[in-house]
Amino acid sequence: MTDMLVRPATRAGADPREGAWTDTIDGPLTCTAVVDVTHDVRTFTFAPPAGRLLRFLPGQYLTFSFVVDGRPVSRCYTISSAPTRPELLEITVKRVPGGVVSPWLHEHLRPGDVVEASGPCGQFSHELHPADSHLFLTAGSGITPAMSMLRTLCDTGAAADVVLVHCARTPDDIVYRSELAQLSARHGVAVAVLCEEDSPGEHWDGLRGRLDAAALRQVAPDLRRREVFTCGPPPFMAAVRELLEGEGGDPRRAHEESFVLEGAMSTGRSTADDPSTTDGRAAADSRAAADDHVGADRVAATYRLELRRSGRVVECDGESTILEAALRAGVTLPSSCEEGMCGTCKLTLLDGRVDMQHAGGIRPREVAQGKILPCCSTPLEDVVVDA
Ligand SMILES: Cc1cc2nc3c(=O)[nH]c(=O)nc-3n(C[C@H](O)[C@H](O)[C@H](O)COP(=O)(O)OP(=O)(O)OC[C@H]3O[C@@H](n4cnc5c(N)ncnc54)[C@H](O)[C@@H]3O)c2cc1C
Ligand code: FES
Repeated sequence: MTDMLVRPATRAGADPREGAWTDTIDGPLTCTAVVDVTHDVRTFTFAPPAGRLLRFLPGQYLTFSFVVDGRPVSRCYTISSAPTRPELLEITVKRVPGGVVSPWLHEHLRPGDVVEASGPCGQFSHELHPADSHLFLTAGSGITPAMSMLRTLCDTGAAADVVLVHCARTPDDIVYRSELAQLSARHGVAVAVLCEEDSPGEHWDGLRGRLDAAALRQVAPDLRRREVFTCGPPPFMAAVRELLEGEGGDPRRAHEESFVLEGAMSTGRSTADDPSTTDGRAAADSRAAADDHVGADRVAATYRLELRRSGRVVECDGESTILEAALRAGVTLPSSCEEGMCGTCKLTLLDGRVDMQHAGGIRPREVAQGKILPCCSTPLEDVVVDA
């Protein structure tokens, strides 16, 4: 989590950048190709926004808005392509059985279709943690941010000391299987794939079972000197956390991103995709520190929240987010993750100060322009928002 105090905008939010590059998307993207990666994973390629080249960090994600069965829904998808190849933008999506969006994407999105996207967001990137040696630990669709980072490291000739461990259920479920073999052969990336079981048509001769201490020692005996990036389903992430701790890994060099929100897991909410990016224990520590800092004052105080465009005013106690207070006033603001990750709820703070504790869903430039995420912002005084 990132915590900060936010003040209102003092100037219009024009993008000063000119020319072929842009570092934000907030609008339509045209799908140019759809390719099967495995039996239930597909890559969707998009033309860059309005013919411009998107500047992003490998590992970052976009928030997409779709209309599924007449209802607007938002989901985050990692840009699986590399910023070194800015002429295309790819996302690689696993079909989640029973899911709202991923089956819809697989069934409906075709070349020529236009989708709405915003971003990029996120801090799960090796470029934010420069190091000579990397270890990527991935499972299932959690390989996508690692793939963007790997492709970047290979394209820039910096993949000399990279280990990728990918866990799949069967050989048929190995995402990017042929490209991983190429990255290994051409760029010397040490790729280790673990399969839990055979496919109906293929016996798996490689590493078997789940990632454990013995397998980790085998593929990365020098774990302690590596910058570690982990992404996969929640049980995988929990197991890796325990493993790294048991093997003496440095928590400050361990970075992780989850595709599934803790809140959504416990409440059964359908926005189970939402990201949380953490850097070792630092994030939890900084969040706790921020809470200590403002907590005592916040609980007792009540502030006036004005939703200017709606013409509504509501009281907001020091514990409620602006999103929650707006809902109480009868104003439903757009939202998805409700944890400061997806950026769906972004709006402009017109007056007052808030305590915003986000998780990568807003960019420093947007904050400087007076934008906030109401889902993770609590007032520190009377506030006016553009909603
Ligand atoms: C930062 C970020 C990046 C992401 N990048 C990718 C990506 O590159 N590729 C990708 O395929 N997905 C990615 N996701 C996940 C994606 O946003 C969706 O959550 C996912 O596609 C499921 O959406 P859905 O609408 O089909 O399922 P929902 O309707 O949201 O959920 C249906 C059911 O499936 C469960 N569920 C939801 N998500 C998952 C999941 N990922 N795995 C297993 N069960 C799940 C839910 O608990 C729920 O019970 C990312 C998520 C985040 C937060
Ligand atoms: S709803 Fe996702 S950032 Fe606010």
